[in-house]
Amino acid sequence: MPPPSASSDFSLTGQWALVTGASQGIGSEVARHLARHGADVILTGRQKNDSTLDKVAGEIRSLGRRAECIYADLARVDDIQNLARQALAIQTPIPLLVHVAGVVYPGAALEQTLDEWEATMAVNLRAPFLLSQALAPAMIENGGGRIIMIGSAAGIVGFPARAAYAASKGGLIMLTRQLAVEWGPLGIRVNCVAPTVTMTPMAEQAWADPARRAAMQNKIPTRRFAQPRDVANAVVYLASPGGDMINGMTLPVDGGYTIQ
Ligand SMILES: NC(=O)c1ccc[n+]([C@@H]2O[C@H](COP(=O)([O-])OP(=O)(O)OC[C@H]3O[C@@H](n4cnc5c(N)ncnc54)[C@H](OP(=O)(O)O)[C@@H]3O)[C@@H](O)[C@H]2O)c1
Repeated sequence: MPPPSASSDFSLTGQWALVTGASQGIGSEVARHLARHGADVILTGRQKNDSTLDKVAGEIRSLGRRAECIYADLARVDDIQNLARQALAIQTPIPLLVHVAGVVYPGAALEQTLDEWEATMAVNLRAPFLLSQALAPAMIENGGGRIIMIGSAAGIVGFPARAAYAASKGGLIMLTRQLAVEWGPLGIRVNCVAPTVTMTPMAEQAWADPARRAAMQNKIPTRRFAQPRDVANAVVYLASPGGDMINGMTLPVDGGYTIQ
């Protein structure tokens, strides 16, 4: 039998993926890029008047893939359970789960409030655990799956004024390893992608000051920030057959920022 083609190593054709945080930024590009590689996508974000979730779903459908939207507030445990139920009603199992949704409350550790701490942990760490726990049984019963967390370089090295955020992302990296050890034998690979500053529309604003931007870029060996597509490519690799032997790892997408 001829070996499979190189492109089939990175094909997700015919597979359903659930992407959280799919309304904007990195999550919307991850959703689009999974679809470009053949996946059908369930997108989630919170219900809003001006939600862009439907717009992203439309873009995916225009690629010839299926797309469904489910609204959920991942800070709420009951919303996470409802999201899992609705997603499994669309497709059981969902073999690919990508946790992109995240929040950050920048501020000095001495001033970080309890509310900010709790809100950060709820969305960035508790939600990926509970949603993974809700979707993993169907994956296990049906031959396995892949779970990908979006962490951060701030979960690997210290960064000023990010106490709750960095702790949540460091926790996500350890949760990745833990689930990989427990669920690897059951057919689920669990990995994490850890970007440096990534040029979403909000990050463009946050890093608009040229001096501040240059100072941060000078700490990155490749001297540039990531683009959402850089992160999405790493997700596709870890999701695809080409990444089949990668499990429990955190892949920095940071131009070498965290190697120093
Ligand atoms: N951009 C960067 O520089 C950077 C660097 C490293 C890591 N990251 C990580 O990458 C991920 C995406 O970052 P981003 O910059 O693309 O963020 P973003 O543009 O602020 O988007 C955040 C996403 O998370 C969703 N979200 C936030 N709170 C939620 C909640 N309570 N329930 C449901 N969804 C919620 C938002 O959806 P709605 O608002 O529509 O509900 C939105 O889709 C995050 O985990 C972030 O920590 C980003």
